[in-house]
Amino acid sequence: MAEFLNGWQRSNMCAEVTKSDVGQQKTLMGWVQRSRNMGGIIFVWLRDRSGMIQLVFNADQLDAETYAIAESLRAEYVLAVRGVVALRDASAINEDMQTGSIEIIATEARILNVAETPPIYIEDSAKDNEAVRLKYRYLDLRKPRLQKALLMRAQVVSAIRSYMDSNGFVEIETPMLTKNTPEGAREFLVPSRAHPGECYVLPQSPQIYKQLLMLAGMDKYYQVARCFRDEDSRADRQPEFTQLDLEMSFVEPQNVQHVVEGVFASVFKQVKNIDIPLPLPRMTWKDAMETYGSDKPDTRFDMTIHTVTDIVAHSGFSLFEKAAADGQIVCGITAKGAADSLSRKDMDALSEFVKTYHVKGLAWAAHNTDDTVRSSFAKFFVPEAMSALLKQMDAEKGDAIFLIADKRLTALTAMGQLRLKLGEQFGLRDRDKFNLLWITEFPLLEWDEEDQRYMAAHHPFTMPMNEDFALMDGHPEQVRAKSYDVVLNGIEMGSGSIRIHASDLQEKMFSLLGFSHDEAWERFGFLLEAFKYGTPPHGGFAFGIDRLMMMLTGSDSLREVIAFPKAQNASDLMMGTPSQVPQKQLDLVRVRFVLDD
Ligand code: AMO
Repeated sequence: MAEFLNGWQRSNMCAEVTKSDVGQQKTLMGWVQRSRNMGGIIFVWLRDRSGMIQLVFNADQLDAETYAIAESLRAEYVLAVRGVVALRDASAINEDMQTGSIEIIATEARILNVAETPPIYIEDSAKDNEAVRLKYRYLDLRKPRLQKALLMRAQVVSAIRSYMDSNGFVEIETPMLTKNTPEGAREFLVPSRAHPGECYVLPQSPQIYKQLLMLAGMDKYYQVARCFRDEDSRADRQPEFTQLDLEMSFVEPQNVQHVVEGVFASVFKQVKNIDIPLPLPRMTWKDAMETYGSDKPDTRFDMTIHTVTDIVAHSGFSLFEKAAADGQIVCGITAKGAADSLSRKDMDALSEFVKTYHVKGLAWAAHNTDDTVRSSFAKFFVPEAMSALLKQMDAEKGDAIFLIADKRLTALTAMGQLRLKLGEQFGLRDRDKFNLLWITEFPLLEWDEEDQRYMAAHHPFTMPMNEDFALMDGHPEQVRAKSYDVVLNGIEMGSGSIRIHASDLQEKMFSLLGFSHDEAWERFGFLLEAFKYGTPPHGGFAFGIDRLMMMLTGSDSLREVIAFPKAQNASDLMMGTPSQVPQKQLDLVRVRFVLDD
């Protein structure tokens, strides 16, 4: 049934045909979106990557064979058509279609291939189950929304490359078969045939290679780099993803930040025609935590956090008084105008919600517009403390306030999550707004309760802030790092830091992380060895291109902006992988699986 092109040449992409082509002969090729037989006249929507156009097959004007071809068309048949461009009648103009004012009056047609009824609808509005969509990803990708996302992605990568190339950066590829890198995620292993019993590791990022490239004198490196992390998938996490990765020599944070800002501004301008005001706002980690309860604050809306420990320390409410006496904090937010719309049931649901962030509970008060007050705690409060609290929290009639008492970071984090939830509920997270900002001065170290030791907050090569060197011995938890993140609308887009380039400082860092001299050398010996041979001061940054695409397209998941993503359970449902491989192949790499039942 399939026909060959036999010399037919496509003249245009479907949606490239315009009113100015009226009267011209065109040859178009694509997929049948739909076909409507009105008896004597058949309307077909032909679709390709550019969009759709309407074809008209008129029985009166066509030979029987061509009309019969039109009659046999089904969804997703591959069709070549020749015809003349005509204006549609005014009453038939379709405002929703780019080519809605014209149509092709078909003169000849060829079915290049037939198609079985597709298992999913090839329409943006289709609500097919995601597992089926991923299994038939090549069909899913025919949808205009996904095609647009992939085209935009190519445009973004091209804008990134052109910015980097014109600013003196050199794109250098680094190995995929490598050794573990320090990002802290679990790694994918690749058993070696040539070295039985040994494995390569897929890179979590090119971190170590790019630092070695600085040592090698490459000065300014970048790469559109594929990274692999064996973490549980989430909406904004995939086991393999792509970063713009960069590294520079002889720099301070502001030099790296200047380049990163330039890349973001250039992408937003070229792809969205949005002018991002530069320099981007900067917020320290401490301020971000205290004001937004997050190191990736969504600054599109206010509802900022107030720490009210002092005010409630003598309020009469024993729970708050005790928290204050124990060195904990009490913090809160005010949801403006929200009192009337939050029922008792809503308040209970919000209390349950915050408990998932390891706090004991949520105190709330709603001052309705009819002047009634509902509250979980007001009855315990002395009146003066209550009015001081409302004043401090800028709460008025119509507003609802929420309070949490707990350990400092625990309370702030839970409050930050509540803020986001309420922001979502009250429609404050505007998808058309793009709030980019820097978060700086992160703590160098994080305490790991499970392992009872410090972990590097960014990675072990991150330089401490000069002002805090002295704290490294007595108060390592207070040391801030020369590290910086870019955050967009509450999502971490990227991170970077100035690296340690002095081996004595690096050894000290390893000892803070609990590595003995020997352990550090065993794990990162090649790097420590390299650092002996004239390492320039250097620093860099990497941001997730998939995450940026998710924001630029207003998608809810990375799966909407990656051609062949992994499903939630990390499998590729289309290829059916991971999958078993023949024992013969495993024998070559001397691997035998021992599976628990
Ligand atoms: P980091 O680990 O913070 O830094 O990663 C940088 C950015 O990569 C993106 N990203 C992800 N995107 C999708 N799925 C994932 N699983 C995933 N993990 C990370 C995020 C993140 O902000 N080598 C350092 C950078 C440096 O210091 O130069 C690094 O990789 O957008």
